[in-house]
Amino acid sequence: IFDTLVKGLQRLEYRGYDSAGVGVDGPRKNDNGDNVNICLIKKRGKVKALDEELYKNDSIDLDIELDTHFGIAHTRWATHGEPNAVNCHPHRSDKNNEFVVIHNGIITNYKELRKYLKSKGYKFESETDTEVIPKLIKYVYDNSENDYVSFSTLVERVIQQLVSVMEGRGSPLLIGVRSKYELSMEQIPIQYNSTGESLFSLWVPLETRPAVGRQLLMAPTETFSPGVFNAIIEHTNKVIYLRDDDIAAVAQGKLSLHRMSRCAGEDPNRAIQTLQMELQQIMKGNFKAFMQKEIFEQPESVFNTMRGRICFETNTVVLGGLKDHLKEIRRCRRLILIGCGTSFHAGVATRQILEELTELPVMVELASDFLDRITPVFRDDVCFFISQSGETADTLMTLRYCQGRGALTVGITNTVGSSISRETDCGVHINAGPEIGVASTKAYTSQFVALTMFGLMMSEDRISLQKRRLEIINGLRMLPGLIKEVLTLDDQIKTIASELYQQRSLLVMGRGYNYATCMEGALKIKEITYMHSEGILAGELKHGPLALIDKHMPVIMIIMKDACYTKCHNALQQVTARQGRPIILCCQDDPEITKNAYKTIELPQTVDCLQGVLSVIPLQLMSFHLAVLRGYDVDCPRNLAKSVTVE
Ligand code: G6P
Repeated sequence: IFDTLVKGLQRLEYRGYDSAGVGVDGPRKNDNGDNVNICLIKKRGKVKALDEELYKNDSIDLDIELDTHFGIAHTRWATHGEPNAVNCHPHRSDKNNEFVVIHNGIITNYKELRKYLKSKGYKFESETDTEVIPKLIKYVYDNSENDYVSFSTLVERVIQQLVSVMEGRGSPLLIGVRSKYELSMEQIPIQYNSTGESLFSLWVPLETRPAVGRQLLMAPTETFSPGVFNAIIEHTNKVIYLRDDDIAAVAQGKLSLHRMSRCAGEDPNRAIQTLQMELQQIMKGNFKAFMQKEIFEQPESVFNTMRGRICFETNTVVLGGLKDHLKEIRRCRRLILIGCGTSFHAGVATRQILEELTELPVMVELASDFLDRITPVFRDDVCFFISQSGETADTLMTLRYCQGRGALTVGITNTVGSSISRETDCGVHINAGPEIGVASTKAYTSQFVALTMFGLMMSEDRISLQKRRLEIINGLRMLPGLIKEVLTLDDQIKTIASELYQQRSLLVMGRGYNYATCMEGALKIKEITYMHSEGILAGELKHGPLALIDKHMPVIMIIMKDACYTKCHNALQQVTARQGRPIILCCQDDPEITKNAYKTIELPQTVDCLQGVLSVIPLQLMSFHLAVLRGYDVDCPRNLAKSVTVE
């Protein structure tokens, strides 16, 4: 069971990796020398450190020694309390480990609860918000009037006291079911509990009791993200998706689901579904890091975003998830593109082409800021929520905010079944395949292409735009091939990275269609190399950033043959006049640029509005090589997590 738990954690590690812990049943001595039923093992650092701790003495078969049937495990991304073994989950109710809890999210009223429980004599060990949960469970349990409270009643009573920004809201648990028998809904007995409430129960056929832990696997939140499937897929492809306000309990090999009492009368039945995913999709193969693999996957991922949606014979684009809402979208007042991090940049990257093709005003917004401003939203707005994971809390909260104001909501996600894809009125799955590296790469280029396709779909009937549409559709057709060509520059980029990797700072400059590329490139550099990096709009150079330029400051400039070419050239002159030595991303055969550059990275040319798909790739590769040369873990940058499910 340790093996299952540790491997599962390793596959989830991209979500947070400052400490990890497991709790398993099995007799063990506690600090006082008494026997306890649940044993906790926690360790600061990555899952590897926990693994080493567990198998420190490998002559002991821990499963047998501990008579283990059951386990929970957690990998942490610290919000309250520094990353150390004490603050790491699972947390416990008392020294006897009567109740142990793992939890993702933030308990916003934890201070009040903690104060109250302390006044009742409970002693807290950690600085975390989570620890109030097991203590509160114990308190409620000890103070229940009836002698017997069922587990689910207990959970329910405790949850009622918590004010939380729980990952569980909108993205609860995924249950993996492993069985020798093919299970189908018909085979699942529906039961009724003593109060007549229906319970969905699943008897898992067990050969031997110690196998329980291996038969039912639960993975936490944003369960629909490929990363979380990872923890399960090697054991089973049969899963049950829980919904908000479901309570699941496993006892004696039996899984029972029921609805919280505030949802009394609602059907607790949940179908067992089959995951369409292969283990090999989440393996690194010959690459050093998932990020590197994902960069090199872009010819296919971009192709997959278009697959079955663009007909190159008839030059039509059909996004199935949007077609029924197209009329309504065409009538709207404005489009608002909302996201965080890289997903926000995909909005910036496509804003101009969407303005051109839809002839609508387009706003691009960072989700957190949009909410902070309590931005006015109207019934005739169309709000796009761009999110690789489909679970980012800031984006999800903004979605609910916009929905509350009656706007039409559209999801652009990479994760089928994610909270954002479920809660939006309609949407597009970008189909980029699982993205594991914390720094997003292929999701960005696929979001870019998906949003561009939306613009093409909107402009289908506009006669004045037909020539432009054809040019873009043709550009999209060629795009996977051109991405392949850009990827051949890898060695050249590695050489440039070997000159730059000891620098403290790296500026990335450009404008127009490539402003987003600068911001996205700088974000990649920050995220994984920890160098200071800024994406600078070349038009703003003279209003401030020019003061940074001298012969020592490394600068990357993006100068493509588009409408901004002359203006970019001016910026180049301003940089070289201050002894700047720019490395320039430019189109092939551009001697004018080459002669002013310290170095050039020459890219194939495509349609102006698609050029950003190509120009971001050298910056992805550059950040990867810089991080490797600086000796950092590319897939798990410090302090970050793949999906941030707290606001
Ligand atoms: C986190 C990740 C970023 C990502 C952002 C938005 O901050 O570290 O790489 O761009 O979340 O994630 P989403 O899943 O909503 O696209």
